[in-house]
Amino acid sequence: MKSIVIAQPNQLVIEERAIPQPSPGDVRVKISLAGICGSDSHIYHGHNPFAKYPRVIGHEFFGVIEAVGEGVEETRVGERVSVDPVVSCGHCYPCSIGKPNVCTELVVLGVHRDGGFSEYAVVPARNAHHIPDDVSDEFAVMVEPFTIAANVAGQVQPIEQDCALIYGAGPMGLTSVQVLKGVYQVQTVIVVDRIPERLEMARQSGADYVIDTTHLSLPDELARRGYRPTLIIDAACHPSILQEAITLASPAARIVLMGFSADPCTVTQQGITSKELSIYSSRLNAHKFPIVIDWLRAGLIDPSKLITHRYPYQEVVSAMATFENDRHSCCKVILRF
Ligand code: NAI
Ligand code: MN
Ligand code: ZN
Repeated sequence: MKSIVIAQPNQLVIEERAIPQPSPGDVRVKISLAGICGSDSHIYHGHNPFAKYPRVIGHEFFGVIEAVGEGVEETRVGERVSVDPVVSCGHCYPCSIGKPNVCTELVVLGVHRDGGFSEYAVVPARNAHHIPDDVSDEFAVMVEPFTIAANVAGQVQPIEQDCALIYGAGPMGLTSVQVLKGVYQVQTVIVVDRIPERLEMARQSGADYVIDTTHLSLPDELARRGYRPTLIIDAACHPSILQEAITLASPAARIVLMGFSADPCTVTQQGITSKELSIYSSRLNAHKFPIVIDWLRAGLIDPSKLITHRYPYQEVVSAMATFENDRHSCCKVILRF
């Protein structure tokens, strides 16, 4: 089989590898589609501190179960599945309280273990989620990015009366817009970015109001319109954003962080405590695959609004280049295997 391997930072090769055999409890998936995400690009260029090389990247992937290991129902052969990249131990403290996404022995497929940019992948059977016939392949490959937004929502529990402010109109900001509007029917969703085309995508995804901060001041714009955000999602993840969010937030607001920056940021406790703000973080997803699959079936979210490019896997180098360099017109890039 062919696999897309980052041999070492900045060295991507399409390698011939043996088709892997499923161990007990595993299934082998014949992959048909995989999505490119920022973290694939980070591993490619050596910017992910958790990555070990060589690595088959890819943690957003869809395919069909082709073989099962011992202990897995033979009837699963032929099943269409999306794979949850979060592999957890099942018994540590975070696992025991329903947060396998921060398992003390967390393994993320495509990061810590070989992932889905390959013709075949062996994954734990419980990570392979059934995709009903009424969900298309292209929607199925988008389950993972929407689980990130589902996890964010699970942390902050949006309500209809919320006035939400989302920093960043990249894939993460855009999935969050769709979840807030489509699933939670949040009244007001404001998105801020500096790329007009991305803000237009945010509008297409349901944002009520977008602000381009290339020329406008966010605090001034919000004040002018009389908005006091009650829910703030940082999907841009610059360390400077938290203090601004604290300042702009309504009393009793929730703020959720998604970033992994190692740079310090300065915040004042007064700003947080005087308004009794709640500050959350969100990482990957905790048991959100079935939830997102239900949303897809119910038509509450529409992944097709985010898919801008498709490539055969043989053209992965061009696909990665488009993803990394064409930030105006590119959102989600899908590879076909
Ligand atoms: P992206 O880089 O495509 O999008 C970020 C957007 O934020 C860009 O459009 C950029 O123009 C905008 N931006 C940057 N600084 C800004 C500022 N100060 N104000 C307003 N907009 C600003 O990235 P993507 O894929 O959407 O991911 C967003 C972030 O989420 C990344 O930092 C990524 O590491 C993180 N992430 C976190 C996950 C988690 O589970 N916690 C999962 C996936 C991504
Ligand atoms: Mn991803
Ligand atoms: Zn665990």
